[in-house]
Amino acid sequence: MRFVPRCVLPLLAVLAGVVPSARAAEVRSPDGRIVVAVDVDERGIPEYSVSYRGETIMPAGKLGLRFQSQPAFDGDFRISGTSSSSHDETWEQPWGERRFVRDQHNELLVNYESAAGPARHFSLRVRVFDDGFGFRYEVPEQPGYGAVNITDEVTEFRVADDPKTTAWWIPGRRWNRYEYLYNTTPLADIQMAHTPMTLRLANGVHLSFHEAALVDYAAYVLDQRRAGIFRTSLTPWSDGIRVKTHTPFKTPWRTVQVAPTAAALLNSSLILNLNEPNVLGDVSWVEPGKYVGIWWAMHLGQATWESGPKHGATTAETKRYIDFAGANGFKGVLVEGWNVGWDGDWFNNGKQFRFTEPHPDFDLKAVADYALGKGVRLIGHHETAADLGNYEPQMQAALDLYESLGVRQVKTGYVADAGDIRRIDENGVELHEWHDGQYTVAHHIRLLKEAARRKISIIAHEPVKDTGLRRTYPNWLSREGARGQEYNAWGSPVNPPEHTAILPFTRMLAGPMDYTPGIVDLTFEGPDGKHRVKNTLAKELSLYVVLYSPVQMAADLPGNYPKHPQAFRFIKEVPTDWDDSRAIAGEVGDYVAIARKQRGADDWYVGALTDERSRKLALRLDFLDPQSRYVAEIYRDGAKADWRTRPYDMVVEERPVTAADTLELRLAASGGAAIRFRRMH
Ligand code: NOJ
Ligand code: CA
Repeated sequence: MRFVPRCVLPLLAVLAGVVPSARAAEVRSPDGRIVVAVDVDERGIPEYSVSYRGETIMPAGKLGLRFQSQPAFDGDFRISGTSSSSHDETWEQPWGERRFVRDQHNELLVNYESAAGPARHFSLRVRVFDDGFGFRYEVPEQPGYGAVNITDEVTEFRVADDPKTTAWWIPGRRWNRYEYLYNTTPLADIQMAHTPMTLRLANGVHLSFHEAALVDYAAYVLDQRRAGIFRTSLTPWSDGIRVKTHTPFKTPWRTVQVAPTAAALLNSSLILNLNEPNVLGDVSWVEPGKYVGIWWAMHLGQATWESGPKHGATTAETKRYIDFAGANGFKGVLVEGWNVGWDGDWFNNGKQFRFTEPHPDFDLKAVADYALGKGVRLIGHHETAADLGNYEPQMQAALDLYESLGVRQVKTGYVADAGDIRRIDENGVELHEWHDGQYTVAHHIRLLKEAARRKISIIAHEPVKDTGLRRTYPNWLSREGARGQEYNAWGSPVNPPEHTAILPFTRMLAGPMDYTPGIVDLTFEGPDGKHRVKNTLAKELSLYVVLYSPVQMAADLPGNYPKHPQAFRFIKEVPTDWDDSRAIAGEVGDYVAIARKQRGADDWYVGALTDERSRKLALRLDFLDPQSRYVAEIYRDGAKADWRTRPYDMVVEERPVTAADTLELRLAASGGAAIRFRRMH
């Protein structure tokens, strides 16, 4: 870090008697490529700018906070002091896409104090890593700022208004939460976007804007105001206030991942590095693994969540799934629709849900015991329909029940249009909040803590965005928070071939996703049916490696797997917990190839997939141990494979390989490859 003298003295500040000691400060990444400069402009507005390899990639963007009842922190400030430090530590993940994570960064703490008007002060903490940077506001106690209501955060993420920049984004603050198809557009087409939002700048540099450690605060969407200026628009409470807090407080980290190529973006650990270490202590009870479930049958319309002749969650049917799981090595059996509350219009009436009362045709204790007898555990399900006024008072008893039955994982659900999380306030009034507002952010953490006390892990659907809190609460195993497989059963449209070629570079930068791969009957309504899975079988297998999640579903109906024994073999074998992960190649929305090494074992796996275009991929195997020999078990598209006409054309072959080899792969239209590299001893 070094100081650079201010080039322009703020004339007004000089007239106002401010000592012109305010100096811009900058901090560099350990490799020196990323430089974040922090300053104040001529109106005393805090700002920051960023260069990469000597080129400005983010021109000066404003910083600041506004309050309901106190003067804002958005002007008339000066830098009163700075300090810097360096950090290099390697920490261990209990489970994850890699076991050891290196946190190497340089830090700059910038203290701001008011240069005019009432006395105010705050700090900006900036951490710069080789793979990006993050900053957060730290507001200490000070006269007049006890309890504060934040009405706006004026942080800007700014890039040049260049028509050659491409953005991959989903709309923010719209009714379907995070479950939109990604747009690939120039900057000019964006209004409000969720994060992570990924950009490829005209010079080829890739950026992703997001946030880390979202605790006791509201999430934000990016609101493009003037061209190239994205302002953080914090999600409001139902009364319009964005964040209700008191000093001292820290905001979550505002993050930008920076990478020279699309593939390099995928190797970033920035979000995890900006979260606090594990607060749960021993988490050996958090178990990654694969699961099956009474689930796809409902999405296909073959069974129902509600009671009646097609009820899915019956005792007999659950035992059938348990037998299937036990016989094939799956650790979990998810059972949806087991409890009272699904009858009638549950989507609009979450008040009905009873989280401890099974339907009469479902003997919860009997199936839980039956599962344990087969070395399998039930995966619990709490669909709340976003009625937290109904769920929260039942939460403890519901978790107690699952704990008493040996359940270790609970899938939660918050199905409702965005902005329709119901809660009851202290006066008994029902209010409607957002899925990513401060209220819901706190709900998720309340639930995680209650669950952890009972050694239960959480897989949340319709969740708040992932900001890396799995580091602090390792029982937050996975979540949805994007358009998953379910849309292939009933969506209009279903997920297009490019969807899974965009997810790794956008949503997955936030953390694991419960996409629920493993549909082997891809054309369940016939090849020309409105609903189907728009990829080849080999690409479906690749999803287990490409879309990281510590829990992965084998989502299809048990009866379909025997029809595809080769695919089923891969699904049974592929691990969900890794020592290491490396993105090898890719372009956002076009293709991707990722290699991962099995946790605690010697085998590597590769998943590669492409969008609707077929392509050739030369896969260098230099990630393998150079001293070892391997057998590559390759599941690839056959010569005639094509997602439209021949989705099942898959070749499985074995080849001896070493780290010196390059595998030439041909990926069909919406095809892929899944490979296990078995180390020979
Ligand atoms: C939506 C979830 O994404 C899905 O997995 C679940 O089956 C339904 N809600 C019902 O809870
Ligand atoms: Ca969903």
